[in-house]
Amino acid sequence: MTVMETKSFDQAVAEGFAEKVGGMLDAGAAAAMISLGHRLGLFDTLKGRAPATSPEIAGAAGLAERYVREWLAAMVTAGVVEYEPEGKLYHLPAAHAACLTRDAPLGNLAVYAQHIALFGKMEDRTIRCMETGEGTAYGDYPCFHQIMAEDSGQTVTAGLFDHILPLVPGLDARLREGIDVLDAGCARGSALIAMARRYPASRFTGYDLCADAISFAARAAQAEGLTNVTFETRDLTGYCEPDRWDFVTSFDAVHDQKDPRGLVDGICASLRPGGVYLMQDIGGSAHLENNRDFPMATMLYAASLVHCTPVSIGQGGEGLGTMWGWETAERFLRDAGFSSVERHVLEHDPMNVWFVSRKQG
Ligand SMILES: C[S@@+](CC[C@H](N)C(=O)[O-])C[C@H]1O[C@@H](n2cnc3c(N)ncnc32)[C@H](O)[C@@H]1O
Repeated sequence: MTVMETKSFDQAVAEGFAEKVGGMLDAGAAAAMISLGHRLGLFDTLKGRAPATSPEIAGAAGLAERYVREWLAAMVTAGVVEYEPEGKLYHLPAAHAACLTRDAPLGNLAVYAQHIALFGKMEDRTIRCMETGEGTAYGDYPCFHQIMAEDSGQTVTAGLFDHILPLVPGLDARLREGIDVLDAGCARGSALIAMARRYPASRFTGYDLCADAISFAARAAQAEGLTNVTFETRDLTGYCEPDRWDFVTSFDAVHDQKDPRGLVDGICASLRPGGVYLMQDIGGSAHLENNRDFPMATMLYAASLVHCTPVSIGQGGEGLGTMWGWETAERFLRDAGFSSVERHVLEHDPMNVWFVSRKQG
């Protein structure tokens, strides 16, 4: 140790920081246990239930009691579940269920906890990426499209008609009359299917790189008997269908492309005069120093390292990453030649940014 380091070493700061790291370990473990609780339906089992014993809870969930008891202990010490030692009773308060169950009024944060569990599962793969510079494929991240559908089901599809489409004045009337709509990077297609259901006179198309997600979307549309929506497996690298669409959406589907700028350019060229592009992406800044207080910034940078950056690099792209920043997105949109570009942040959803870009009529 150098003299300078010895002099500047502050024992109290070091001990305080060690305590902070201990808290991080506990919070990380709690997040992994919240993921388990979500996947096994345990929060849904506990929701609205009077204080119950672990055999009662395990029985209701159809799970092995010994393991459920251990999970409950982790949730009690994490402050998620309440515990009455006298009767060995466990209880999920309604105020905690409000962000942990499948119909949670505050949005189900347990959906995102699944990423924390998967960061561990992806560790060896990420180490290889970091050692070699290579990328990954979508299939390397287990259950990606299932988790993404749960995520966008609550951030996009649930708010589509009340908050999101109203960002484009006059759109509802045009959709009712009948227009051509593309969702670029539609994955399992729940937003597009919701629009197709509501606007039978319009024609909806979804493109995505991943055949498994597209088959899921096509099956879901078919199950509903929708005839105005089609899904196609398609690599959007170099995308351009001149004057093909009246309205294009992309939900969290630009930054992890091989060529995000090329896709934005291609979407602009593929819109008819007067057409509109509605883009949602992560609302962080391109400048790290601005993201210190951004909601769940550490988790977003981690997801970027483990998934979004390597899937772009795996396609031969530069890997802009999840936190490519609204500044970068806005620059790409302005450079693409839209006649106007508006940026919106929805009050109930500070994590995302929404751009409404119009092509000259
Ligand atoms: C973060 S997911 C978002 C999916 C969907 N829009 C949603 O909100 O659930 C990004 C999507 O972009 C798709 N994607 C990535 N690169 C692509 C490419 N080169 N061509 C077409 N789709 C691509 C992925 O397959 C993935 O489904």
